[in-house]
Amino acid sequence: MRLSLASAATLVVLFASFQNASAENPQLVPAYPLYCAGPLTTSAPTSTPAYTETTTPFQWASVGAGAANPAPGQCVWADRGPRGIEIQSGGGNVICDYSSAMQSVPAGAFVEVGVARDPGVNDCMHLFRYLGTVSPPFSAVPALPPFTRPSIASLTPAQIAALRAGIQVMMNRPTTVTTSYNFQASMHGSELPQTTPAEMTSWDQCQHNSFYFFSWHRMYLYFFDRILRAAAASAGHQNVVLPYWNWQDPAQYALPAPFWQPADSSNPLYIAPPNRPAALDAGTAFLDAATVDSSAAFADVSFETGGFSGNGFGGQEDSAPAQFGTAYGDFEMQPHDMVHSALGGLMGVVDTSAFDPIFYLHHAQIDRLWNRWIQKGGGRADPTDAAWLNTTFTFYDEAGNAVYLTGAEIVDTVGQLNYRYDDDPVAQLGQIIIIAEGAAREPTKLEAEPATVRIRLTEAARLALRGRERRVFLRINDIRTEKPPSYYYAIYLDPPADQKLGPQTPGFVGNFSLFSMVPHRMPGGKPMAMGNIVADYDISRLVGQILDRNADEVQVVLVPRGLVDRNGEQLPLPPETAGTMGNMQLIER
Ligand code: C2O
Repeated sequence: MRLSLASAATLVVLFASFQNASAENPQLVPAYPLYCAGPLTTSAPTSTPAYTETTTPFQWASVGAGAANPAPGQCVWADRGPRGIEIQSGGGNVICDYSSAMQSVPAGAFVEVGVARDPGVNDCMHLFRYLGTVSPPFSAVPALPPFTRPSIASLTPAQIAALRAGIQVMMNRPTTVTTSYNFQASMHGSELPQTTPAEMTSWDQCQHNSFYFFSWHRMYLYFFDRILRAAAASAGHQNVVLPYWNWQDPAQYALPAPFWQPADSSNPLYIAPPNRPAALDAGTAFLDAATVDSSAAFADVSFETGGFSGNGFGGQEDSAPAQFGTAYGDFEMQPHDMVHSALGGLMGVVDTSAFDPIFYLHHAQIDRLWNRWIQKGGGRADPTDAAWLNTTFTFYDEAGNAVYLTGAEIVDTVGQLNYRYDDDPVAQLGQIIIIAEGAAREPTKLEAEPATVRIRLTEAARLALRGRERRVFLRINDIRTEKPPSYYYAIYLDPPADQKLGPQTPGFVGNFSLFSMVPHRMPGGKPMAMGNIVADYDISRLVGQILDRNADEVQVVLVPRGLVDRNGEQLPLPPETAGTMGNMQLIER
């Protein structure tokens, strides 16, 4: 295959306007990054205009193989999602590259490549970003056993020593090493000169002033934590975890003592003035309630800001990441930014902040409070926007290989990343925890017809289901019956659509009769007191099914049942209306 000169000449423009490529240049179709397994060979660069291309067409891994590793010589879409418009069946399996960045990939190695499909040039994949070697499997698989992030205030001297050891090992590595402290800090923001391709593509990535703020910093912290543990382990300290600094606790308004005692180079957590205010390093300067207040942000119910700051907890719903987006979320400004500004020194400037080790404890606190906001309920939920869920951000794992995560892979710290905070709420005995609720404002009619009630499953609900410590029940609230009908209901959770329903159906919850729920006469002829009549069904055994389905709602289906004929077929039911039921809930009790 040879590329036409015309397409080469327009390519510079296409790169510059890549985000709008499909609109402005219908011949170039944006594509997800490719994830390819070697061997892939590229031709020698030609001159004017210089380009290379893969000489052997790569094969697409089988459809849907985004979740799997490509075989030698194969590529998959790195988003692991369904194939979209960017794929062209039959073509598009040569990478054509005008930057000469693409290199041959030996067998056994994997690369990630940003591309756009060019139907004008035999559907070749125009390279616009060569990320280089990445490591399978994708990092989304939790690589750590379940762990708890503790408060710095609760660490033992041995744990502090282990934390210091890990940071010191990272600080001893040269900046060019992706697992070094300087490289990692620079991924957030940096003033250091860039000397390697990895530095050029990976530094200055922090996401601010948009709804990627929370998700990017969670991913960043997650890999920093992994690198830190491996570093500490290499120095003989096992089980190091990154703690959080709860600066909302008035007893912790000062910089945690391990960060300034001892105040010398034996302590890698110590940063000398003027990179930290001297009073902070002396324990005589404090944050205060006004600085750390998060009440305004916590009052927000929306994550997204909808165009302007001041409207949402999490930030503007920008369709593509930019280091500094268009509108910040309320929480990012207050308390996140306030704490940065009040601390000053390195922490007071984006490009230097991650060079002060307290940064990572500050952000663990931010991460913890993100969970807290979701747990507050009342409709608070993470974005469901496709860009937020599917945009990939690249990091490095403890082996120094490029890996990435998407927003959808990090919303549930317990279920997806294997960690919780030491004070994430756990159930109190005897107390009922409402995990999820139906959205119905009106009562649902109880008739001789099947009824479906949808219970919304937020990430917080999923978190609570995974972290459950007691039994989980389906609760039907506020059952009101005027007249018990000649039928009862079979209840199913998410029943298969194509199957005759019965007690053997996966998702069968139990039967529900209104027989005893009619206001009947109490002893002495008094009318029954009408309270909130509820029915609870233990669905603990179905929680796995609910989580596996990974849907954003649970469908509760009520099917009326009564007498059957000789063959077990349902006889027609009397068209009686029995009454109404109120909201349904999933509860832990
Ligand atoms: Cu990216 Cu606290 O900053």
